Amino acid sequence: MDPVREMLTSVLDEVRGEDAGETAQYIPELASADPDRLALAIADPHGRRIALGDEDPFTIQSISKPFVFALALDALGRDEVLRHVGVEPSGEPFNAISLEEGTGRPANPLINAGAIATTGLIPGPSAGERAARIVEGLSRFAGRTLQVDEEVYASEASTGDRNRALAHLLRSYGVIETDPHEVVEAYFRQCSVLVTVADLAVMAGTLAFGGRHPVTGEQVVSARTARDVVSVMTSCGMYDASGSWLIRVGLPAKSGVSGGLIAISPSQFGVGVFSPRLDEYGNSTRGQRLLERLSDALGLHVF
Ligand code: DON
Repeated sequence: MDPVREMLTSVLDEVRGEDAGETAQYIPELASADPDRLALAIADPHGRRIALGDEDPFTIQSISKPFVFALALDALGRDEVLRHVGVEPSGEPFNAISLEEGTGRPANPLINAGAIATTGLIPGPSAGERAARIVEGLSRFAGRTLQVDEEVYASEASTGDRNRALAHLLRSYGVIETDPHEVVEAYFRQCSVLVTVADLAVMAGTLAFGGRHPVTGEQVVSARTARDVVSVMTSCGMYDASGSWLIRVGLPAKSGVSGGLIAISPSQFGVGVFSPRLDEYGNSTRGQRLLERLSDALGLHVF
């Protein structure tokens, strides 16, 4: 067996028996997910991909946030985007109301408030068009056409009052310049996009390789945009656990409440993992262990 595949298989087997944490409870469709699902994929700059474990798709959730931030940066430029959202760690949970006093600018684009503000920046001439453009943009990162899981979307929309409140608050400050209801619906749809770990690995890879997709060869976003996004993932990607994550694993990363997690080894690898049980910060427990093992085994810590 290829030595990398062998090492990945043993890392996956090592964490398989662990059962700490529980599925996201606040969205019914995620609460009922099979907690034992486990998968890992890695992509290199030459388009080689290794995917192991569960092949079924799951919803991308907050892992969409850095990619939508990238689309906004490419469409509007850094200065305009940073007028609406900051790049500082909030030190607070993902759904906190971390808004700058006076301006209402969210702390960063990877917490919900900042992600909703970022979604509002994606140009969309009509209701529905914004969501379609976001799904199309995420598809370019994946290198294939992605679909929305309508059941998760409905579940998300039926329990999303806190996100709606955040959107209205952002509108009251003028951070969102359009209909907040339409923006938050687009945000729910972007969270409900279905991906596999193999998709996540090439999506992460596209950011790791300067915005260039390792399989399609498309320059999805500029190298500067990719660098900006990876920088923010380094300080904010694991929410209020980002500091301890950086010490332990040493890779820019982003988690989602369905149990997905991406990590970026600059110029070397994009990695996607999936395991639905979460810790108290909303980060996948076995997913973190997998990446910790992988970072150690391949010497990937960036410092
Ligand atoms: O905004 C929400 O509630 C979710 N749909 C996405 C949040 C998420 O994935 C947070 N991540 N750990």
